[in-house]
Amino acid sequence: MQDLSLHLMDIIENSITAEATFIDVVIERNEVDNYLKFIITDNGYGMDAKDIDKAVNPFYTSKAQRKIKVGLGIPLFKQNAEFCNGFFILESKKNIGTKITVQFELNNIDRMPLGNIGDTMLTSIIGHPNVNFRFELICKNKNVKMSKFVVNTEEIKNELGDVPINYPDVVQYLDELINEGIKKTYMEEH
Ligand SMILES: Nc1ncnc2c1ncn2[C@@H]1O[C@H](COP(=O)(O)OP(=O)(O)O)[C@@H](O)[C@H]1O
Ligand SMILES: [Mg+2]
Repeated sequence: MQDLSLHLMDIIENSITAEATFIDVVIERNEVDNYLKFIITDNGYGMDAKDIDKAVNPFYTSKAQRKIKVGLGIPLFKQNAEFCNGFFILESKKNIGTKITVQFELNNIDRMPLGNIGDTMLTSIIGHPNVNFRFELICKNKNVKMSKFVVNTEEIKNELGDVPINYPDVVQYLDELINEGIKKTYMEEH
């Protein structure tokens, strides 16, 4: 995985596989306390303690017939965070949902770049029109006290009525909205 937006994509895909109908993603870039944090919450089918153990252990996966993990999504994300003075917490309840909190030291020399977070947001939203997403971007830096951006597809879908969220004009609108949000919150790295 070359950047954090691709790691995030992988976590979102896990939630989709787990039949989530709502996925909440909070990304906080905090230059004051020097961290970059992701919190991903879903209402998918969740995991019991044994499943959690398997997901975090790099040598097993719940996919049928497979003893050696191929995905490695979770263990790699965890390892990357821990390499960067951060942490990875996986909380889950069977039939309730899953919450993943991943934190990186923002200015750590080994921290992967954020990558194209706008692409991850847009691709998730238009690729899964039946799933509701809430993306929240938060930035705290020394000049701007706090800057926030939220996109909530449930609200957008209500306004759209019969028009599908992946209708070309809507995609264009979402693309602009997301990119404005990224600029407003200084989420992009320079
Ligand atoms: N949000 C989730 N809800 C339920 N189960 C999950 C979730 N995320 C991960 N899992 C479980 O953990 C396993 C490991 O995930 P991951 O490391 O991304 O590898 P892969 O997706 O290739 O199996 C998944 O196969 C799945 O069983
Ligand atoms: Mg995966």
